[in-house]
Amino acid sequence: MSILKKLVVCLLVTSPFLTHAQTIPVLSKHNALVLEVDAKKRLAISYFGEKLSNEAGYRQVKGVYRQAEDYTLVNNSAYLPAGSVNLFEPAIAVVHGDGNTSLDLEYVSHTANTEGNISLTTIVLKDKLYPFQVKLFYKSYIAEDVMEIWTSISHTEKKPVLLNKFASANLYLKSDEFWLRNYHGDWAREMQPEEEKITHGIKTLDTKLGTRANLFQPPLFMVSLGKPATEDEGSVLVGSVSWTGNFRVDLELDNQDNLRLTAGINNYQSAYTLKPKEEFETAKFIYTFSTKGKSLASRNFHNWARNYGMVDGHGSRLTLLNNWEATYFDFNESKLAGLLKDTKKLGVDLFLLDDGWFANKYPRNDDNAGLGDWEENRKKLPNGISYLVKEATANDVKFGIWIEPEMVNPKSELYEKHPEWVIRQPGREEHYFRNQLVLDLTNPKVQDFVFGVVDDLMTKNPAMAYIKWDCNAVIYNAQSAFLTNQSHLYIEYVRGLYKILQRIRVKYPTLPLMLCSGGGGRVDYGALQYFTEYWPSDNTDPLERIYMQWEYSYFFPAMASSNHVTEWGKQPLKYRIDVAMMGKMGYDIVIGKLPEKELAFSQQAVRVYDSLKNVIWHGDQYRLSDPWKNAVASVQYVDSTQSTAVIFNYLVNSRYGQGSVLPIRMKGLDPSANYRLREVNLFPGTKTSVDSSVTYSGDFLMKIGFNPAVRSGRGSVVLVAEKVK
Ligand code: GLA
Repeated sequence: MSILKKLVVCLLVTSPFLTHAQTIPVLSKHNALVLEVDAKKRLAISYFGEKLSNEAGYRQVKGVYRQAEDYTLVNNSAYLPAGSVNLFEPAIAVVHGDGNTSLDLEYVSHTANTEGNISLTTIVLKDKLYPFQVKLFYKSYIAEDVMEIWTSISHTEKKPVLLNKFASANLYLKSDEFWLRNYHGDWAREMQPEEEKITHGIKTLDTKLGTRANLFQPPLFMVSLGKPATEDEGSVLVGSVSWTGNFRVDLELDNQDNLRLTAGINNYQSAYTLKPKEEFETAKFIYTFSTKGKSLASRNFHNWARNYGMVDGHGSRLTLLNNWEATYFDFNESKLAGLLKDTKKLGVDLFLLDDGWFANKYPRNDDNAGLGDWEENRKKLPNGISYLVKEATANDVKFGIWIEPEMVNPKSELYEKHPEWVIRQPGREEHYFRNQLVLDLTNPKVQDFVFGVVDDLMTKNPAMAYIKWDCNAVIYNAQSAFLTNQSHLYIEYVRGLYKILQRIRVKYPTLPLMLCSGGGGRVDYGALQYFTEYWPSDNTDPLERIYMQWEYSYFFPAMASSNHVTEWGKQPLKYRIDVAMMGKMGYDIVIGKLPEKELAFSQQAVRVYDSLKNVIWHGDQYRLSDPWKNAVASVQYVDSTQSTAVIFNYLVNSRYGQGSVLPIRMKGLDPSANYRLREVNLFPGTKTSVDSSVTYSGDFLMKIGFNPAVRSGRGSVVLVAEKVK
């Protein structure tokens, strides 16, 4: 875009003599976050919610509330500091160079720039007594109604300042009730939702695991205002912390019944010593807000992610055959040669070689040994990876590979050679997670090593088309031999990881990378900016996946969700394939063992998927029928021209007589257009009751709906609605 075409608005305000309140509205298409500077130069949040049609109204907001007393007048601070008059959970807490623990931040100046779709408001706050400064950044993605907030902290005191807390953001919300939806989980049980009314006090969502940080809790949540939002009704903030490590979100309902949301990097064991003139940049807190329910909020996130939040959000993705569950560690060159042929036979784009291909002194024949030793296992692969890549090319498929470069088995040459590269407490008994330990990514030499794992593979095999990046262990006994200040470890680890990923992206900007962490132990927007897709869970039981993918879909677009067809679960192959189609489809089954009919069906399914994938990846997603509440789950994707929609319907309750009793109302169609519905992905030999010669108006399909006739024996039904031209 030429400079002329860009709309650039720049405003610099420095107000040493403020006498009355000044408002700083940060706006997006539908929403406003309004900051206010009072006569004492305190920066507060005066309004959060739907945009007012008249900006003057923001000044009147305060006058219409009659709440309990704010004893300090900082309850609604935009960045609440500890140690002066504050009485609540702070965003920032410090110990100055001279040992003083107070902080009182006042407004100094702000700038606001709008360039195209993005506005950035930067506000400078300074302490009254100490040369200590916080810059607040509010980045509004206008069309997507998405906001990113973060801060940069610095000082010019004589001695270092200790940062005890360093949140990215404070928000301050007003409503009669607040409802929190958050998630818990464990291996193979990711994204289990819980929804409850927020009561007075603090509810903290956090993780202290360091790596595989989201194993028990992801940084994903929703806060509904008034009552729990439904798909299409209610006001809801959907948010997350973009940080691939320890995060912390505090939700505090205070004496005035307002909700203070404080989010950022977890300060657990992480007091940070900030040298004079050093800048400490916090993680980004990201949210969208919708007054029309969760459905719109999720599409805001999807649009934002595809435009700004992930690699190649408008590009394509590779369908694949993975060998993990088909072979586990038990394979050799000839077995893989067979799988390459199967990849072609199935019709997918790529073969993905999983764990077990490396290490010689301690061969990687199970998960006890070899991690860290990234040369091909000569017994299994005498001709190396490059031979396999060539074989793949000869079979007209692409080749991808699994790595877990941040980790090490104690039974490895790497551990023998570089014990100082391992996060461990010397003198204490080692404790393992999946028989492994975490490498110390704070150390630049380790960063080089990890970068080298990818770079070597790519340099030796330029045709390598895909990498699955795994991370299976949490950090125990956190101690770095490299760092002098151990309380920097959790933070510097993530910074080290980002440095490596950044280097990879500079050299290999579009290489497809899958973000895996023993399942979904690491799904966040901090990491996703370097990845093309994520692995939601090792649990690929399609029934479980319907629920998990449903919940993930509030935060991430379908094209980022790697869904594989495996042997997990009791559902027939068709059901498993249909569920995998609601994202980026792959296979992890033994193709050679499929009965003829199932193979033919799988091949046909890949073709059907190829014809619909652009609607699923780039279209708008609507959740039509909630599996938590109904016997039938239904999810729809519509392309941007409203010409094609794909509707997936599944029976999730197999009790007697359950099925789609009522029609399912579609969404996002053109009400004035006519559509023909046809059922796709029919298993050979089955007939459909869907008459594709009948047309329905978009208006009808959205007001009355269509019955996919889901029932026992017809547990999974995929429909395509096409506009009649
Ligand atoms: C993790 C991943 C799996 C697989 C194994 C290999 O558990 O989630 O998909 O790659 O590692 O060891």
